[in-house]
Amino acid sequence: MRYLTLSDQLQGVQSSCIVVGVHSGLKLSESAAKLDQISNGALKKILSKGDLSGDTGDTLLLYGLPNIKAERILLIGCGEISKLNANTFQKINRTTAGALQKSGATNAISTLIELKVGRADTRWKIRQSVLAVEDMLYEYSATKSKNKKRKKPLTTFNFFVGAKKDLIAVKKGIKEGIAIADGIKIAKDLGNLPGNICVPSYIANKTKSINQKTKSLKTKIYTESAIKKLKMGAFLSVSQGSKEPARLIVIEYKGHQKEKPYVLVGKGITFDTGGISIKPSSTMDEMKFDMCGAASVIGTIHAAAKLKLPINVVGIIASAENMPGSQASKPGDIVKTMSGKTVEILNTDAEGRLVLCDALTYAERYKPKAVIDIATLTGSVLVALGKVASGLLSNHESLAKKLSIAGKRSHDRTWQLPLWEEYQSELDSNFADIANIGGRYAGTITAACFLSRFTEKYNWAHIDIAGVAWKTGKEKGATGRPVSMLVHFLMKEAKIL
Ligand code: BES
Ligand code: MN
Ligand code: ZN
Repeated sequence: MRYLTLSDQLQGVQSSCIVVGVHSGLKLSESAAKLDQISNGALKKILSKGDLSGDTGDTLLLYGLPNIKAERILLIGCGEISKLNANTFQKINRTTAGALQKSGATNAISTLIELKVGRADTRWKIRQSVLAVEDMLYEYSATKSKNKKRKKPLTTFNFFVGAKKDLIAVKKGIKEGIAIADGIKIAKDLGNLPGNICVPSYIANKTKSINQKTKSLKTKIYTESAIKKLKMGAFLSVSQGSKEPARLIVIEYKGHQKEKPYVLVGKGITFDTGGISIKPSSTMDEMKFDMCGAASVIGTIHAAAKLKLPINVVGIIASAENMPGSQASKPGDIVKTMSGKTVEILNTDAEGRLVLCDALTYAERYKPKAVIDIATLTGSVLVALGKVASGLLSNHESLAKKLSIAGKRSHDRTWQLPLWEEYQSELDSNFADIANIGGRYAGTITAACFLSRFTEKYNWAHIDIAGVAWKTGKEKGATGRPVSMLVHFLMKEAKIL
């Protein structure tokens, strides 16, 4: 999609469609009122027939309005003026994109950034609009033999900016929206690939080829024997049951001469059968998404590089396949981590923390400003937070606060859970330094407790995305979360926001 700005008089522009908002009670938005006035009240007359309610997400497509050059007018319900928020604004933009795509309009002018969304500024509204449009129009095609080619796809999206003074903010918003959307698309595409294609070596090669196009990005790949040399015994214990060799992937983005980097660590289990502690088969297909943390790291760093953020960012991805092969680790096995600590594997399905703990130890060498790991780590986070918010746990309050704010602002939200020391004893083992699982309760917290044993040397936060990384049911597919939140956080750290 091409995103452009437009500040001419609305009625005079040749366009396939102008999008205007109508609120509850059929209150017209500024631009809707303008079009009504120019068309001598035609808009209000049509609305009086009652075909549009003005509820959020309601749409009505009109053709041939008098005195207006555009071929179509798309009316979009925006709900109560006072209730417009980040959530409804997203919904309005998504619905708009869907209706436009269906309509046959090849270009459109959206006036929706004139809507008042709490205290949000123009730049935010533009950024969120681009993200909503790109999210709505995303189509997965990699493994379908017939790609549906639309006859008349929407190719140009114009933002109508009444006041020219906003133009700089608008341009920034578009640029940021596109960069973040590109990162999200990378994450979705990788996440959606099946487990028989997207294996650890595939992720490694793909990361390399994506990053090669950007000069500020470097990629280093550790093969299984190199991982062995690093003494990552926990990581390797996960991949030993699989024919597919593990990969440790390190991405370095250099946007600053000497500052310490932010390190993002991603869980990259390309398929999680549970191993010998095998999972039940219903919905096991969804365990191809168990590398979405890794995918979000690749997408986020790509966006950071595209935005040329004046900071340094390192991505560390631990990728393996968790299979119940004859060499697979068994409950009761004890492995030695890179840190030297030993772990009793009581459940081979708690594999994420085993690959992450070694990657987190590897992160120490960067003397990082902060380390954030992103992982589809526990089913428990779905019990706690459902599919709305990611779980956030941290050993550093102000880092947690910043991530939580970034989540709010990007509408890619996290919710903090406690990491109190009382939970730590759940991981006591009679045979090793730590067990890899706790008891029945507080699974998301005890998983983070496990990781916290390997992050004592730096400021660290853990994002459990098991609930938000993909959608299920008819809409099954990766979401690209939490790329938007992470890029927002990095933009803020880079002081460009
Ligand atoms: N990848 C799963 C977590 C998961 C489960 C994500 C369901 C999304 C939906 C992870 O590796 C796992 O299996 N975790 C176990 C941990 C348990 C054995 C302590 C879990 O949550 O059941
Ligand atoms: Mn598992
Ligand atoms: Zn897993």
